[in-house]
Amino acid sequence: MDKKRVLSLIQPTGEIHLGNYFGAVKNWVNIQEKYDCVFGVADLHAMTMPYDPKLLKSNTERMVIELLACGIDPDKSILFIQSMIPQHTELLWIFNCVTSYGELSRMTQFKDKSDQLEGKSVKNIISAGLFTYPVLQAADILIYNANFVPVGKDQEQHLELTRNIAVRFNKQFGEYFNEPLPLFTEIQKLVSLADPSKKMSKSLGEKHYIGLFEDENKTLKKIRSAVTDTGDTSEKMSPGVENLFNLLKACGKTNEISTLMGDYTSGTLKYKDLKDATAEAVIGLTAPFKKRKQDLLDNKAYVEKIIAEHAEKARTLANKTLEDVKKLVGIYT
Ligand code: TRP
Repeated sequence: MDKKRVLSLIQPTGEIHLGNYFGAVKNWVNIQEKYDCVFGVADLHAMTMPYDPKLLKSNTERMVIELLACGIDPDKSILFIQSMIPQHTELLWIFNCVTSYGELSRMTQFKDKSDQLEGKSVKNIISAGLFTYPVLQAADILIYNANFVPVGKDQEQHLELTRNIAVRFNKQFGEYFNEPLPLFTEIQKLVSLADPSKKMSKSLGEKHYIGLFEDENKTLKKIRSAVTDTGDTSEKMSPGVENLFNLLKACGKTNEISTLMGDYTSGTLKYKDLKDATAEAVIGLTAPFKKRKQDLLDNKAYVEKIIAEHAEKARTLANKTLEDVKKLVGIYT
């Protein structure tokens, strides 16, 4: 087995949208042949910000189902739920003891999220869990001795911390972990349809994103009402129009793009045509995903079986690392 191992987790946010798909999930699907892939749903990380305990479990299962529907192949990759692998949190404790307070305080995501919590009218605590979030992420990665981690810009600092933890651990307890590298791949960034100055994200609200599994009519409506501009092509292309072109590009519609772009350049493009083409592309792309999701929902026993079997596979790998580590640091196994 000489394939390099890739590891990545995604938080159970409730529903995969086009931003998640083109920014991460599509890439996961595509690298399954080339790498030994371990993917996971980070339900423990989801607990670090205010959340509804009644929804976490169903959102986690939903994420598993949607990942399978998008093409994560359980015969090729491991797909686990983080909370089912208690070894991660055991390793988290050990890593907490080789991570400095100072370096965690410098994590920009921690600062951003703390600011968000401080600004809330309903007071929420800034938890120790939020503070050690990146250490849990390091445990996720290192427990499988991953070679590569596909990361977006926002996670680069966490991966750097992971490497620091690996190096420090090795120095203190003996060479054990390798240093995981970022895996940069070509991804299509998408912005909000209703406010193109912001990244496409669920937290902005319904009209800002397109759910991969949402009803066709909803998608159509959102694209039709996407923010564009007044059509003055003497100006630079506006972010809203660019976003629609990017969406077409992400869907692989190169022919449509060259025609529409030609019209844009000559000043004859009707944005309605651009929107119709985009809606058609998105609906065409997502139709098979929706069908597969429905099949999975109709076969929950299969989904449960995959979840159980894959947790078992992940636990076997994780346990081996944890036992080695416990010996190295001098605690009972
Ligand atoms: N923090 C990541 C995010 O929110 C999710 C995550 C958790 C992760 N553990 C990981 C990503 C390990 C890569 C590797 O996107």
